[in-house]
Amino acid sequence: MGQVKDILGRPIRDLRVSVTDRCNFRCKYCMPAEIFGPQYAFLPKSEILTFEEITRLAKIFSFLGTVKLRITGGEPLLRQDLPLLVKMLCDLGSYEDIALTTNGYLLSKYARELFDSGLKRITVSLDSLKETTFKYMNGGVASVQGVSKGIEAAISVGLQIKINVVIQKGVNEDQIIPIAEYGNKLGINTRFIEFMDVGNHNQWMKEKVFSARDILKVLQSKFSLEPIVSSYRGEVAQRYKEKGSSWEIGLISSITKPFCRDCGRARVSADGHVFTCLFGTNGFDIMSHMRKGIDDDYLMGLISKIWTLRKDKYSEDRSLLRGTTDKVEMHHIGG
Ligand code: GTP
Ligand code: 5AD
Ligand code: SF4
Ligand code: SF4
Repeated sequence: MGQVKDILGRPIRDLRVSVTDRCNFRCKYCMPAEIFGPQYAFLPKSEILTFEEITRLAKIFSFLGTVKLRITGGEPLLRQDLPLLVKMLCDLGSYEDIALTTNGYLLSKYARELFDSGLKRITVSLDSLKETTFKYMNGGVASVQGVSKGIEAAISVGLQIKINVVIQKGVNEDQIIPIAEYGNKLGINTRFIEFMDVGNHNQWMKEKVFSARDILKVLQSKFSLEPIVSSYRGEVAQRYKEKGSSWEIGLISSITKPFCRDCGRARVSADGHVFTCLFGTNGFDIMSHMRKGIDDDYLMGLISKIWTLRKDKYSEDRSLLRGTTDKVEMHHIGG
């Protein structure tokens, strides 16, 4: 069928698949423990896409033009036998780039298997190197040491690592330099993300946003940085490199400088709903159609129709849409 474009002329480029809505962390900005406590009902196995269904979707999306695939969660490493899914996706041969986003806690256990399954790239979330702040941010669950052990294990088996840091004003801006130095020392590209109003429970206020511009100023006080031209249309991060080295930092300015006009990201939740925006509501239930036995042409037609009707640009319209209270949760569709 070839490349499809949405109402605003944006091609579909990037597919993000969530393999579970569960997470072993309780980050305050994503799954605050008061709401996602022991009674919270996660999805049962019968209601999540099987590996075969995920692989079939990845193939169909690639026919429609997606070239990049990201595996997310919740925490994807909580999905049983994840390396097997990685292998199935790599064996498709349809994607130039397959990556995984993880909180890193189980990485030391799975790094080798993931690499042997064909994965090359991992993004690890790390918001602080200071134990008290890290624990405060992740709901008191995990230690910095657990994550850094995961990062080191991944590097040692040959995986390429990137770090994502969400900065919140008054919480962890003092960690910008320490984390950048950590990334620099290990040669890991490090990306700083503005705190966003994803989901309905993170008590977002614009006063809590530490802007990408201010993050850059902090970084420039320590590093000599020069801008890099974006490598493709719709790249999320504005990238800079350290003069005289190949180390890079990235700034993701979803709040102060939205990048909707080039957004070609489609997301599929663990329960098989297609979302055309990180700030969507219900998504389109593709799984129930698949389980009725539709053939590939029909499935491709359905996805193509969902995309061609798309007109999302939440971040650009944030001030108008701010009151929305039924947004999908980040742990449900991943970042
Ligand atoms: P690479 O493939 O490593 O370049 O990663 P990426 O550019 O695809 O970005 P990644 O998935 O690591 O996203 C980094 C962060 O940017 C996410 O965790 C989100 O916080 C934010 N982000 C990513 N995609 C979107 C998006 O479509 N909209 C908004 N508003 N934020 C996004
Ligand atoms: N704002 C910005 N980034 C967020 N992430 C999760 N919640 C938010 C938020 N409210 C990031 C995580 C991880 C990725 C999946 O999304 O830190 O790096
Ligand atoms: Fe934190 Fe990611 Fe888990 Fe959300 S899914 S609670 S951001 S580790
Ligand atoms: Fe894309 Fe929606 Fe994010 Fe805009 S807000 S960049 S349309 S996912």
